[in-house]
Amino acid sequence: MKSTVYITRKLPDNVVDKLSCHFNVRMWKEESIQVPREVLLKEIEDVEGLLCLLTDIIDKEVLDLACNLKVISNLAVGYNNIDLDSAVCRGIVVTNTPGVLTETTADLTFALLMATARRLVESSDFLRKGEWGAWSPMQLTGQDINNATIGIIGLGRIGEALVKRAKGFDMEVLYFNRKRKTELERELGIQYAELKDLLKRSDYVCLLLPYSNEVHHLIGKEELKQMKKEAILINTARGGLVDEDALYHALVEGQIWAAGMDVFEKEPVSVDHPLLTLPNVVTLPHIGSASINTRIAMANLAADNIVNVLNGAEPLTPVMLK
Ligand code: DGY
Repeated sequence: MKSTVYITRKLPDNVVDKLSCHFNVRMWKEESIQVPREVLLKEIEDVEGLLCLLTDIIDKEVLDLACNLKVISNLAVGYNNIDLDSAVCRGIVVTNTPGVLTETTADLTFALLMATARRLVESSDFLRKGEWGAWSPMQLTGQDINNATIGIIGLGRIGEALVKRAKGFDMEVLYFNRKRKTELERELGIQYAELKDLLKRSDYVCLLLPYSNEVHHLIGKEELKQMKKEAILINTARGGLVDEDALYHALVEGQIWAAGMDVFEKEPVSVDHPLLTLPNVVTLPHIGSASINTRIAMANLAADNIVNVLNGAEPLTPVMLK
């Protein structure tokens, strides 16, 4: 008998077809509305495979109902939406989509850094609002990117890809990572720094580490105090890494110069979020990996992981328990 797979959001036809060749496929057909929790709880009961998004919380409640589930394939590299321990306890394979989004996410991270440093959004709004009276020497001046110091927190694949971009701008690169990578330091010409030291010395602090409870609010009031007054914080990882309330106050009080945020603690962020009221914050709706090619590659990889597991082969990109 064919296995059944549930997909929690509308995916491109060719990706769905790939799964339909092997399995009975059911899908939440909306593109921009999340599957309601009660629908997910019902759908999960009889399926062997689940293809879900980072916005779907796959916790004990879901897993307790998932009597036949063999594989959870997350369409994201991050998987903090999944209770990994509980899944592994139940013998469920969990997969993610690393690798295929590395360069695209590094591109967006550097684009956000540049947009924030050079006040691109504010400048564009200024022009469109008819506020451009005359060219003036200090009007809309920002921070230099070339020859500045960038501190990367989390030197995984995306962090490494960001180093290449930073080196193209002659930046000095510091990094902080759970595990020091001495060979990479030599290869890429980068320097390890403890977190405190990195915060003190960096003009740009970029967060690129996976989220877990241990790093909740890694950047809070004390950390923001240690940063330079001209420093810029860039977060393209997960919102929970930053204490948004502390960041708001640090920006208002001029403790740091600006921030670029692609991710928020609670997404989608509401339009009256305090950070959205500040001119020195560039905000994006979690689009780090959002190029057409990359999103298609992610969807294909997520589907291939399900095909492999349910057909008795090894998953291509399994998530491992630490
Ligand atoms: C991920 O993959 O974890 C990103 O946040 C979305 O692309």
